[in-house]
Amino acid sequence: MKKLALITGASSGIGKELARIHASKNGELILVARRIEELEKLKLELESQFKVKVWVIEQDLTVKNAAANVYNFTKKNNLEIDYLFNNAGFGGHGFFVDRPITKDLEMIDLNVSALVELSHLFLQNMKIRKAGKILNTASTAGFLPGPLQATYFATKAFVVSFSEALAHELKPHNISVTALCPGPVKTEFEKTAGMTGGNLFEKAASAKSTAEKGYRAMEKGKVICISDPVLNILIQYIMPFIPKVIIPGMVQKMQTI
Ligand SMILES: NC(=O)c1ccc[n+]([C@@H]2O[C@H](COP(=O)([O-])OP(=O)(O)OC[C@H]3O[C@@H](n4cnc5c(N)ncnc54)[C@H](OP(=O)(O)O)[C@@H]3O)[C@@H](O)[C@H]2O)c1
Repeated sequence: MKKLALITGASSGIGKELARIHASKNGELILVARRIEELEKLKLELESQFKVKVWVIEQDLTVKNAAANVYNFTKKNNLEIDYLFNNAGFGGHGFFVDRPITKDLEMIDLNVSALVELSHLFLQNMKIRKAGKILNTASTAGFLPGPLQATYFATKAFVVSFSEALAHELKPHNISVTALCPGPVKTEFEKTAGMTGGNLFEKAASAKSTAEKGYRAMEKGKVICISDPVLNILIQYIMPFIPKVIIPGMVQKMQTI
C-alpha cells in the first residue's frame, strides 16, 4: 500500500531530501512551499524517477487560513495523509531588541502556529484510522536558550516539547510523533537567517544525511532524533552537568558571526 506524505518546506534543504527519500520508497507526496517553480521541478524529478504521484501546493504558511487551505486541498482531492512532515521553518540572527518584530512574529507563525494547526487538522483522520506518523523538524536549538537567535531557539524548544507531549498522548492511537533535531545543516537556512560569514556552518551536515536520519527515526517511532552524533552526546550526557547560568553566554559566543 502506497503511503501518502505531506511535506512542508519541500522546495529546498531538508524538506526536499525528505521528499526524495519518501519517493524512493514508492511513496506518494504532497509538497508545500511558497516557491511553486521549485516544487514543480521536484514533482517532475520524482514522478519521472520513481513513477509516483506528486501533488504541489503553493502556500505561504504564515498567512491567515494557510493550514486550512492545505487541509482543504487534501479534502477536495480525497487524499488521506499517512505521514505529516512539519518541516518548513526559518531562523533570524541578531539581538531580539534590534530585530524587526514583524520578522520574529512571522517566525512564530511558521515554526510554531502552522505546525500546531496542521498537526491538529491531519490528526483527526489519523485518529479515526488508528494509524499515522508525524515528523516535526525541530533543532538542537530546542534544548538551549539562544542569545542572538532568541525567538528561533524558543520556537524550536516549543517544537521539542510539543512533539514529546503529543507522542505520549497519541501512542494509544497507534500514531507516532518524532522531533528531528539537527545541528547546523548546509541548506538555504544559513543565508535566510543572516548567518553567512560565521564559522558555525563550516562543518555542517548535509541535508541528505539529516533527512535520512530523521526519516529512519520516524519509521521506528522514535520521539527524539538528534541527528548529529557529537551534539547528541553533548546534549544528552554532558549538558545536564553544565551550570545553567553559563549556557546563554556559551551559546551567544557560538552564534557570534
Ligand atoms: N539548516 C540548519 O542548520 C537547520 C538546523 C536545525 C533545524 N533546521 C530546521 O530545518 C527545517 C528546514 O530548514 P532547511 O535547513 O532545510 O532550510 P531551507 O533550505 O531554508 O528550507 C526552508 C523551507 O521552508 C520553506 N518556507 C520558508 N518560509 C515559508 C513560508 N512562509 N511558508 C511556507 N514555506 C516556507 C521554504 O520554502 P519557500 O521559500 O519556497 O517557501 C523551504 O522549502 C526548518 O524548520 C529549520 O528550522 C535547520
